[in-house]
Amino acid sequence: MTTQDHSTAHEPATANGVTPAYPMPGKDPYVDANDPEADQFDLVREGARRDGVELVHYAPRFPVPGTKREKRVERTIAFMFGLSGLFGLAFLVVYIWWPYDYQLGVNIAKLYTPMLGITLGFALFFVGAAVITFAKKLLPEEVAVQDRHDGASPDDERRLTGATLLQTFDDTGIKRRPMLKAAIAIGAAPLGLAIAAPLVGALITNPGKDPITTAWKEGIRLVRDDGTPIQPGDMHTGSIETVFPGIPDGNTNKYADSPTLLIHMRPEDAAKVKVQPGYETAHYGDYFAYSKICTHAGCPASLYEQQTQRLLCPCHQSQFDLLESCKPVFGPASRRLPQLPIKLDSAGYFVAQSDYRVPIGPALWEHPDNDK
Ligand code: FES
Repeated sequence: MTTQDHSTAHEPATANGVTPAYPMPGKDPYVDANDPEADQFDLVREGARRDGVELVHYAPRFPVPGTKREKRVERTIAFMFGLSGLFGLAFLVVYIWWPYDYQLGVNIAKLYTPMLGITLGFALFFVGAAVITFAKKLLPEEVAVQDRHDGASPDDERRLTGATLLQTFDDTGIKRRPMLKAAIAIGAAPLGLAIAAPLVGALITNPGKDPITTAWKEGIRLVRDDGTPIQPGDMHTGSIETVFPGIPDGNTNKYADSPTLLIHMRPEDAAKVKVQPGYETAHYGDYFAYSKICTHAGCPASLYEQQTQRLLCPCHQSQFDLLESCKPVFGPASRRLPQLPIKLDSAGYFVAQSDYRVPIGPALWEHPDNDK
């Protein structure tokens, strides 16, 4: 391929003031795509011409390569790629080593998610800024006007398009800018790793807990957030209470799969409930307990509509019909909210009869039983 200056910036303007960059269709000889004498830029222009593109202006940003100004721009871009790589590495360090186990009180574990966001955000910001600066400051200036066309392109036009892509790569000047080449590699490698880390990490990290069972067991009391147990009569009819297992840390993220809704239905509504087979003794009088974790994507489904006897999940508007034992009747959830079997203990407080009989939460979790 021959090397030549394709700059058209200083060519004389035509009568209408537009500077044509190549022979105009209908007036000038076409370039044969298979002509071995045609260089890459000839093919680019021919491809553009056949595609109805008028290249009205094309000029390199730095006609004389290697000037101080060009070097300064290169250094700026390299610096931004470097910063992107640094923040990508910081993301990896945070992802792997930052303590993330939830603890009560002030501690750095609570900064785990913000730190992931900040480091990845800056990594993406700097790689974006570097690419934009590259395009604005180093790629040749080009003004082209293109007609639309329909249908697939013939083979030789694909070849021309290939040449166009190669020309675009050549225009970046990366081949003759080793510093930028290294900076892109330094910036892109950690960023690529940062993006891959959560995917790989999720595969190699043991979730540590059987997703089928929760903290509920026979005899564990249903307690409020402040740890107080509940008796029948503590709740008004037609009211709802979020309850937790009455064990140490029962209301913390340690047992995030256990929050349960205790509902005191109005007697006339409770009498209409279609109980699931096997759950005939799972409620106590007009009191029913269901998992608070939406079976769609795990949000708290705790908006209680007393008039319609429905529980609503605010995330994607799934609705669960209490009269049908929390069967989903609207929205994306496909499983009922699992029911927690309850009874009273000898002191007259609500306790669980057992754990949930089916897994709680979204259907994507391990569900041997698709409890429709
Ligand atoms: S999480 Fe409840 S509807 Fe999506």
